[in-house]
Amino acid sequence: MKVKILDIDTLDVDKITNILNYDGICKVTTNKKITPYDFLNFCKKFLLITPLTENDPDIIKVSKNTTFSTYDLPWHQEGSHYENDIISVTYNHENCQKFPTEFINTNTIVKEFCNDIDYYDRIEIILKDWGRIQRKKDNNEEWGWFWNNKNVPLKSNSRIKVLNKLNDKFYLFINPKYTGEILNDYNNYYFNLIKKFEDREQDIERFKLTSNIKNNEILIYDNSKIIHTRPKNIKNLNVDRELWRITGILAK
Ligand SMILES: [Fe+2]
Repeated sequence: MKVKILDIDTLDVDKITNILNYDGICKVTTNKKITPYDFLNFCKKFLLITPLTENDPDIIKVSKNTTFSTYDLPWHQEGSHYENDIISVTYNHENCQKFPTEFINTNTIVKEFCNDIDYYDRIEIILKDWGRIQRKKDNNEEWGWFWNNKNVPLKSNSRIKVLNKLNDKFYLFINPKYTGEILNDYNNYYFNLIKKFEDREQDIERFKLTSNIKNNEILIYDNSKIIHTRPKNIKNLNVDRELWRITGILAK
């Protein structure tokens, strides 16, 4: 999996949209620090910005002391519980290259593991309750920046098909943490496959792309195609990182 690289100063917004449609991920290079407000305005060029829950800031700050950043995670995507294709935009404010986000394009997984497309096409799952951690009201500023952007009311989903066809390619829903009952998976193929993701087995980790990202660079990815996680065993890493994240749907 390759990541196409764009330059923020010569940015063609249609290009971002096209790359997200066909590759699901791209990188935008900048060579100077930007402010949260610059970041918001950059995202507004191609995104209808929508925080994923009512209380989320427009820009979520992920750092050592905030937003689950020292826990091991299974592979997942943001916004599983919505019908909309959620785009994440992340800005490496500081040190994210020290333990960078890892990505897998689930089209690769379909090609490698799903020989019987019709079998997967019949599988549905019931999503578990979201159960996101409520943010503390008394130190809001630690969680990010608020301007109250809520451009699209996101539609919730609780039962979904696992196989999706987008722009003539197949993608697989993979989010073991939020997968409840699995329907029509008579041979347990899907169950066994997502277990590999939950257990971070080498069998699937070999398909990952570790983002080679410098300070002040931006990664944009479409959660309906790309799943992500963070490196294993980062608990004792003696370095902080600060990542800013905006979510939304493509403006066109
Ligand atoms: Fe995430």
